[in-house]
Amino acid sequence: MIYAALKSIGAYVPEKVLTNEDFEKFLDTSDEWITKRTGIKERHIAADDELTSDMGVEAAKIAIHRAGLKINDIDMIVCATISPDYLCMPSTACVIASKLGRTNVAAFDISAACTGFIYAMSIAKAFIESKAKKNVLIVGAEKLSAIVDYSDRSTCVLFGDGAGAAVISATNKKSDAIADVHISADGNYGDLLMTPGCGVKNPCSQHAIEEKLCTMKMKGNETFKIAVKTLTSDVTNILNDNDVQTKDIKHFIPHQANYRIIKAVGDALKMTSEQVVLTVSKYGNTSSASIPMAMNDIWESGRLKKGDTLLLDAFGGGLTWGSALLPFAGESRQ
Ligand code: ACO
Repeated sequence: MIYAALKSIGAYVPEKVLTNEDFEKFLDTSDEWITKRTGIKERHIAADDELTSDMGVEAAKIAIHRAGLKINDIDMIVCATISPDYLCMPSTACVIASKLGRTNVAAFDISAACTGFIYAMSIAKAFIESKAKKNVLIVGAEKLSAIVDYSDRSTCVLFGDGAGAAVISATNKKSDAIADVHISADGNYGDLLMTPGCGVKNPCSQHAIEEKLCTMKMKGNETFKIAVKTLTSDVTNILNDNDVQTKDIKHFIPHQANYRIIKAVGDALKMTSEQVVLTVSKYGNTSSASIPMAMNDIWESGRLKKGDTLLLDAFGGGLTWGSALLPFAGESRQ
């Protein structure tokens, strides 16, 4: 029997930092409001000439190195992003493959917003378990600053840029296997979180530009309520399906959208503060990159060890949501 195992994690964070105090200079907002409502203190912003693919490449190089592999060992690249280099083509995964110097490889993007990394993991797992691929690079990379409306205080303070990547490899060791991945969606709630313009429905035009239709629009309050409810039940289901209890989880790594959502779900599951991984204060919401960036943080700080049981959950535009239960099968930091 062939299983899929998470062998490594890597991340890239752009240099420039945008603090809550920076927003106070040009927006009717305050550090106090942002901190109290979201837990966010600062976020990183990519340079003008730094693309989503560039950040993905940096994270990917680290993940491939930490997996003990060379780029030619990678036989599939899946990039989850809602801020691709190009609207339609080429895919950001193809650009990443090219920048990594890998040709003749399966490469494609997926669009599942903040749940993208978990969707990518489920795809990698399926390809590996069916023996079609051996080493899949999954990337979550976002330059959200390029699709944020910096005059809309209800969204712009939430988002940041960055990338995370992981290598999922074939193994015959059942104890290393990704146990389960749940992915789901309800398109009826698509209007809660969307970029209305520059697709086929509202093509790029003077009107789309003037109305800022190509930037993110969010009904935050409604999204918040559905997020807490859906995440709590989805995570409870994945634990029950696999006969795992909350106390068996070493690190609960939720999508880092809002501290209050994370706290509500963590409390409902009776997670301790040691179990819950929190990076939202320093990175904000980096959509598909947030889970691998958070995982990389605990790897780099030495908290994430080989064999630790991880529980991931995410929620995002679509609406989409998902969760994953798995051991960390990579090497601990030396
Ligand atoms: N500064 C000051 N005041 C603000 C700001 C701001 N930055 N933003 C909004 N306000 C005001 C509003 O105008 C409103 O004022 P009013 O009462 O006079 O009308 C008041 O604050 C309350 O606004 P709410 O939207 O009700 O605030 P809420 O407590 O819901 O917090 C937030 C907003 C942080 C966006 C929250 O709803 C949230 O986190 N939602 C979920 C986001 C999420 O998880 N998205 C999914 C993933 S993202 C993705 O997929 C890309």
